[in-house]
Amino acid sequence: MKKLLITGGAGFIGSHVVRRFVTEYKDVYQVFNLDALTYAGNLANLKDLASAPNYTFVKGDIRDAEFLDQLFSEHDFHGVIHLAAESHVDRSITDPMAFVLTNVIGTVNLLNAAKKAWKDDYSRHLFYHVSTDEVYGELHNPEEFFLETTPYDPRSPYSASKASSDHFVRAYGNTYGIPFVLTNCSNNYGPNHFPEKLIPLMIHNILHNKPLPVYGKGENVRDWLFVKDHARAIDVVFHQGKPGETYNIGGFNEWKNIDLVHLLCEIMDDQLARPAGTSKGLITYVTDRAGHDLRYAIDAHKIMHELGWQPSVTFEEGLAQTVAWYLSNTEWLEEVTSGSYQKYYDSMY
Ligand code: NAD
Ligand code: DAU
Repeated sequence: MKKLLITGGAGFIGSHVVRRFVTEYKDVYQVFNLDALTYAGNLANLKDLASAPNYTFVKGDIRDAEFLDQLFSEHDFHGVIHLAAESHVDRSITDPMAFVLTNVIGTVNLLNAAKKAWKDDYSRHLFYHVSTDEVYGELHNPEEFFLETTPYDPRSPYSASKASSDHFVRAYGNTYGIPFVLTNCSNNYGPNHFPEKLIPLMIHNILHNKPLPVYGKGENVRDWLFVKDHARAIDVVFHQGKPGETYNIGGFNEWKNIDLVHLLCEIMDDQLARPAGTSKGLITYVTDRAGHDLRYAIDAHKIMHELGWQPSVTFEEGLAQTVAWYLSNTEWLEEVTSGSYQKYYDSMY
């Protein structure tokens, strides 16, 4: 069995990546999920794996360099898939330093641990950094898309921290010879998504008949991908991607926020058997996010052509599945929205 370290595996995307590698590669990988269990980390996302023989949870913080060095000296990790991060743009606007510490310094700590532990033969290993399309900035021309070659232009503290960590990964590859792959993905949605983000926040508020806060005029555009399709893309890139390469991942699925919220309202009314139009009545336009990027749109042709990956579900199917998941997991939703969530919510809206 090869030892595989996945960081941030108790979070939204990480939980789907951990589940995929534990269940699809039972005889191949011993999966170590390293997570600090911040407000966004939740072991309930992985409760079905608790007794899987090839799964080990390690509570730890990537800001702690000594801890990482110790972990890498105890285990000969074949590879690292690095997802642990502060991930919410709005939080990065109120507390940028938390994003520097985890996303930049935490990533460099992880690279240093790998560099020391793997020095006898870097070629046997792979460092995979999971990143975001936000590093490319924003688009205004509807004909334009983000390519792997698009120059970086991060515009929020979150995207600046992710851009910085991307640069460090490439720099360690170039300078020390650590084999790496990098992917930049668009907005994910699906089960286990923390309800500070647009889709689960709206689902939660519709359930509680609370206002649906749409920033600005709701004209901003995002490209949405079902989280299980992202996890599958990570699997494909980890196994077939060319070391040193970057792959953009996206759904060719652009939605204006207000149109997405309308669609979500219709699906919610339908699944809750409420009269059509009930949820739309909750929509409230609120003050715009500072520095709100207008449009993100990924060109995913490289991963499609070179590695044969493509999204498996339409947005309508994925969104209906997502709503169904939240409606049958209301305990999960209530648990994560109790306590400190309420304080955060009250400070935002
Ligand atoms: P998330 O906030 O749901 O989960 C992050 C996880 O990292 C949590 O489990 C948290 O406990 C853990 N973590 C945070 N700080 C840590 C630290 N210092 N040490 C160890 N663990 C720590 O995030 P997500 O939405 O699942 O995103 C995962 C990764 O994917 C991030 O790197 C993010 O930048 C990237 N990404 C996210 C999206 C998206 O749409 N959500 C899109 C593209 C890329
Ligand atoms: O593009 C990839 C990125 O997508 C990831 O790197 C980030 O980790 C992830 O959080 C996500 O960032 P966004 O800022 O695009 O996602 P969020 O869900 O916060 O917001 C989506 C859009 O909806 C954005 O234009 C802001 C808007 N919005 C958001 C919230 C929370 C609202 O209008 N109202 C809201 O209440």
